[in-house]
Amino acid sequence: MEALVSSCVVLPCSFKYPAHQQPSSRIKAMWHMKDKWEDYIYHNDLTKVLENFKSRTKLIGSLGALNCSLEIDEVKNHDNGPYCFRVELETPGKDKYTYKDNCVTINMIEQASKPVLQSEAFVQEGQSAVFRCSVRHTCLSHQPTLSWSHSGKTIMSYKDIGHGKWEAESLLTFTPTKEDNLNSITCTVKYHGSVQGEMQATERINVKEQATLNHILIPAISGLGAALFVGLLCVFIVKRYKNRIAELQSRNDNGIWSRLSRMSRRFRSGEGSSGPGGIEQSQPHNRF
Ligand SMILES: *[C@@H]1O[C@H](CO)[C@@H](O)[C@H](O)[C@H]1NC(C)=O
Repeated sequence: MEALVSSCVVLPCSFKYPAHQQPSSRIKAMWHMKDKWEDYIYHNDLTKVLENFKSRTKLIGSLGALNCSLEIDEVKNHDNGPYCFRVELETPGKDKYTYKDNCVTINMIEQASKPVLQSEAFVQEGQSAVFRCSVRHTCLSHQPTLSWSHSGKTIMSYKDIGHGKWEAESLLTFTPTKEDNLNSITCTVKYHGSVQGEMQATERINVKEQATLNHILIPAISGLGAALFVGLLCVFIVKRYKNRIAELQSRNDNGIWSRLSRMSRRFRSGEGSSGPGGIEQSQPHNRF
């Protein structure tokens, strides 16, 4: 077993005997040191208990229900054991037994561990999000408390994970707002009796903003704007080139082609001078 110094530890224990099941009052139970059977850390008769264990140990199970689980509180760093359970029945047969092959040694933990904080990498603005904080411990009779730096709905639960180990878990549910983004969230654990007091785990909240009307309108408007700009640019370019083409064409009118065509016109009019109206036509040409 592991135990956190200054906290408590519960040694899980159950037993059986061949006689008919007896009520708790007919069962004498004791826990003692493995190497010194007279050194009791727990005994029905308190006067027989070692001085430094008096008032620190108690049976938390019901003997009548065959449960001999022992709580040691205010764990000291030299409480290692090993400890053994012994039972004596006040029946005519006076059955008694020491479970010397099932004694318990305790490993001391001086430094309380930090809680484990789990959250989604991103939470959605406006949608409820769950944050999980948990710790493992062996102090069943005084569960640690878990608290949050952020308000919300919390659900506490305790789970037996075997071999005297327990997991305390707190689930925090709240609806993140834009203001929560990049803020930190802290889970604080307070172990029973721990002199170190509190341990913390912190995470950053990453809030994905909700798509509002603005988030739809702004990209739409800027998209339309860009399309309009490109369209206008095309119209402008086409116009400019049209002008350019027209300019080239008009330049051609004074160029070689137009001169040639004028010459051909003159030639044709010279030929037809004998015809009616030919004189009138040729007159202007004679001036040159
Ligand atoms: C013995 O009692 C403890 C404390 O009430 C309890 O947690 C545990 O489950 C019991 N053990 C058994 C085997 O019933």
